[in-house]
Amino acid sequence: MPKYRRIAIQLIRSLALLAIFSGTAAHGAERRDVIIDTDPGADDVVALLLALASPEALNVLAITTVAGNVRIDKTSRNARLAREWAGREEVPVYAGAGQPLVRTPIYAENIHGAEGLPGVAVYEPKHGLAKGNAVQYLIDTLGKAAPHSVTVAMLGPQTNLALALIQAPEITRGIKEVVVMGGAHFNGGNITPVAEFNLFADPDAAKVVLASGVKLTYVPLDVTHKMLTSDQRIQKIKGLNNRAGERVADILNEYVKADMVHYGLPGGPVHDASVIAWLLKPDLFSGRQINLAIDNREGVTMGQTVADWYDTLGRPKNVYWVESGDAQGFFDLLTERLARLK
Ligand code: RIB
Ligand code: CA
Repeated sequence: MPKYRRIAIQLIRSLALLAIFSGTAAHGAERRDVIIDTDPGADDVVALLLALASPEALNVLAITTVAGNVRIDKTSRNARLAREWAGREEVPVYAGAGQPLVRTPIYAENIHGAEGLPGVAVYEPKHGLAKGNAVQYLIDTLGKAAPHSVTVAMLGPQTNLALALIQAPEITRGIKEVVVMGGAHFNGGNITPVAEFNLFADPDAAKVVLASGVKLTYVPLDVTHKMLTSDQRIQKIKGLNNRAGERVADILNEYVKADMVHYGLPGGPVHDASVIAWLLKPDLFSGRQINLAIDNREGVTMGQTVADWYDTLGRPKNVYWVESGDAQGFFDLLTERLARLK
């Protein structure tokens, strides 16, 4: 790597550390305490790397894992891999629910591969799981947090937070907001014609979180399907000449194939990283406060998110629904932050 690039990267790292001590992010927003709940998963790993590469903006208190794309043992291992690849092994990983609240479990190995992480070699990471279950961690941490201080970024089925809310509904007091990758309205579903995978995998959990009254933002397929990879965007990540860039490029090249074929798209969505980009640079996105309802009944509409975008029913507006985003701005942010990693 050319000397000037090494100096530039060191400078960025120093500025990031400086911002940490000053408590504010590079663009002046307050540094957030965040718990990332996730089912890694190709796009989850990209999201984790993006978040862990942004310490000046996101104080990642912990990663909590859930079954979803693959089984809990593999989502938990993959979360530990992402943590190791980001050089952030001080962040604890707590394993959580191995199955949904009610419905029979479903997985997405057809998209994420048998190991839940396509395009790269997986292995047993050096550092293990934190002691204790993710649900108890959420109860304990959110229960003693300062009022409305902790953001929960949900990148998979919402089972862990739902179980925590059922056992300890008072934890809403510690939650600043919940940002969910999930749902679909204008776009249509990706696991059924109307349902997105995370909602379909545990619709009952999503209903519990919705009913809790927490401040809730949804980042649905409506926006993630507008922020697609391209050869150029992936090449730029590959061209970072660091392991993180190589891994993300290899993961994305493999991961997006199925969506590109299924939808006839020129590229694929990086769903979960869009949630982290929302936290880092909300100005990249736009949406509106709407009424959302979730169908958890068995049948063809199970997992459907009924987003009242035009306020047809005049019901309470309980969710901020992100509907579009600046695709190039998203990939520029992702690439810039991955450049910080080794
Ligand atoms: O529908 C996309 C979502 O389901 C993403 O979070 C992906 O990782 C899977 O969990
Ligand atoms: Ca996910």
